[in-house]
Amino acid sequence: MKCDLLVLAAGQIITAPPGDRPLLGPDLDRPLLLQDSSVACGGGRVLAVGPTAEVTRAYSEGEAAEVLDARGCLVAPGFVDAHTHLPFAGTREAEFDSRARGEGYESIAAKGGGIRASSRHLRDATEDELTGLVRARLRRLLEEGTTTVEAKSGYGLRLDEEEKQLRAVARAAAMARATSDADIAEPIPTFLGAHEIPDEFRSRRDDYVALVVEEMIPAIAKAKLARFCDVFCDRGVFTVDEARRILEAGRVHRLIPKLHADELADVGAAKLAAEVGAVSADHLLHANAEGLRAMADAGVVAVLLPGTALTLGLPFARAREMVELGLAVALATDFNPGSTMCSSMPLMLTLAVTQMRLTPAEAWMAATANAAAAVREGSRLGRIAPGMQADLCLFEPCDYRHIPYHYGRDHVRAVVRRGRVAHRRTGVSSCS
Ligand code: NIG
Ligand code: FE
Repeated sequence: MKCDLLVLAAGQIITAPPGDRPLLGPDLDRPLLLQDSSVACGGGRVLAVGPTAEVTRAYSEGEAAEVLDARGCLVAPGFVDAHTHLPFAGTREAEFDSRARGEGYESIAAKGGGIRASSRHLRDATEDELTGLVRARLRRLLEEGTTTVEAKSGYGLRLDEEEKQLRAVARAAAMARATSDADIAEPIPTFLGAHEIPDEFRSRRDDYVALVVEEMIPAIAKAKLARFCDVFCDRGVFTVDEARRILEAGRVHRLIPKLHADELADVGAAKLAAEVGAVSADHLLHANAEGLRAMADAGVVAVLLPGTALTLGLPFARAREMVELGLAVALATDFNPGSTMCSSMPLMLTLAVTQMRLTPAEAWMAATANAAAAVREGSRLGRIAPGMQADLCLFEPCDYRHIPYHYGRDHVRAVVRRGRVAHRRTGVSSCS
């Protein structure tokens, strides 16, 4: 195959070893680290990766359609942000202010703020406006090194508004495909109709669950607007029994289960994730050991969201314990206007290392290979290996440990998506 792009002479490459499984236990701390190496890309995929002399013997510089100079750079797989609430409208800085004055996230939500506030903001935005917001965010994410992002609905809380969110995601992705090939992050849509009980159903929650199960899920699935079905299963939101009913209905319609699990309290959601065979259970700040063990046995990925713990002042998830239990641990931002107004995966690496006791290598693997497994894309994304989609990020300087260590600064130099240079940042000095 013809080489469309040669990423030449990287100071260092970090990737999970070839394969399509998430990394567990001690393997999470054993990435493949290559020095003075190159990546050949063609047809949107990785053709070869390895020492520059070897790669250029097979794919010479002169024959490559384009060469990206990676000297002095770290080359890593593009981040897979496996949990966001991307299609939102409006922001909630007033709640941020209230929390700074001592009010809790749950108390704000109980008064009609929180998710229900974002639901009102969403109703004020047209589908075209929302599509524009989503498109702009997908571009910014790509500039931050994120090449794939899971994007949840969940602020609509009624069928037409949930559809509006998911259509905005689909339209933004299609728009980018029409104008250029790959200059934004790729969104993967999740239906989260069970994110909160909307105002009009507060006194009859069973009717809302029935609406999600009987009307929303069939319609969303029929229109192919989502790949996953998620539920906020926690204190004050949906119970384990309600979540089970919703996820089972989703499964009947071929929506793969996911869960917001035990973020605010231990309600047994981790165990439910194992029981329904969810692809991932996310947050898990208060998950109990039995639930975590059940997840490990069932192969449910634990998606940890340290930005949320940071923003809300909650205890961080016990990542170390989870790795030691044999769970596949992944990292994501939870980007949303309430609990985490942040889309920076490099910052999540820093929080994982400093607050959750992962090593820098473990944090990188959790944010790439294991994150891809959390959106069931482990055989296409999250690794730099022959046959994988050529989604790469170049950082400076060329030491993977430097990126989480030196936080609050943009180290991204270029981003390659589907084998094309989608972003290039020039004229910046080296960062130490
Ligand atoms: O993952 N936990 C539930 N949902 C979001 C918060 C959404 C919001 O506050 O708007 C989360 O933290
Ligand atoms: Fe979330």
